[in-house]
Amino acid sequence: MARRKIIAGNWKMNKTPSEAVALVNELKPLVATEDADVVFCVPAISIIPAMEAAKGSNIAIGAENMYFEESGAYTGEISPAMLTDVGVKYVIIGHSERREYFAETDETVNKKVKKAFEHGITPIVCCGETLTQREQGVTIDFIRQQIKIAFLDVTADQAKTAVIAYEPIWAIGTGKVATTEQAQEVCAAIRACIAEIYDEATAEAIRIQYGGSVSAASAPELFAQPDIDGGLVGGASLKPDFGAIVNYNK
Ligand code: G3P
Repeated sequence: MARRKIIAGNWKMNKTPSEAVALVNELKPLVATEDADVVFCVPAISIIPAMEAAKGSNIAIGAENMYFEESGAYTGEISPAMLTDVGVKYVIIGHSERREYFAETDETVNKKVKKAFEHGITPIVCCGETLTQREQGVTIDFIRQQIKIAFLDVTADQAKTAVIAYEPIWAIGTGKVATTEQAQEVCAAIRACIAEIYDEATAEAIRIQYGGSVSAASAPELFAQPDIDGGLVGGASLKPDFGAIVNYNK
């Protein structure tokens, strides 16, 4: 069974709510496609206006983060129920920027992944190595460890619906895209790791994205790889280029 591509934008901390509406309206016609799932993960404050703007289009609006508790004294956090209440279906979990600047760990990532599934939200689970780790030749071991912890106590049925984003940290926002071979090699290793944790059927079903300086130029070759099921796109998702990335096969 061929996996459906999923191409997501990660807006990070960019665009005010009114700018978000304008950008959704600008990109809406450009990202129209029947061939892939298209998701815009936007800052929490822009989720509702972006959804309004995206109404009637093929764009799903996702979140960039959420907390792993149901509710309570967690100033500044967003709960899963707050996301589902407004119709959010995807959430990015464990982006390397959250790990670096907001002290997220493999353990908190696992808690968030389980909580997302409990609420019927599809997690886009991020993993990726530093440049030093790549140079030391420990990339695959490190990513396997991230994946194993992220999916602890997640059932096979849940894992089948998950999305994993492989984002080498050295390729994020640097213009240094991983080579197609590097990206495919790690995505294949992630799939093999999922097969070990669960089974072949789960590994075949799970969708794995590549992220890190994806552009309209690099997308066609990256997305044609057997184990790359789309992309998680930062900078280029804020521009009309995102239309070309989504329609990479046309
Ligand atoms: O989550 C997407 C990301 O970190 C990649 O960012 O700007 O390199 O496409 P960018």
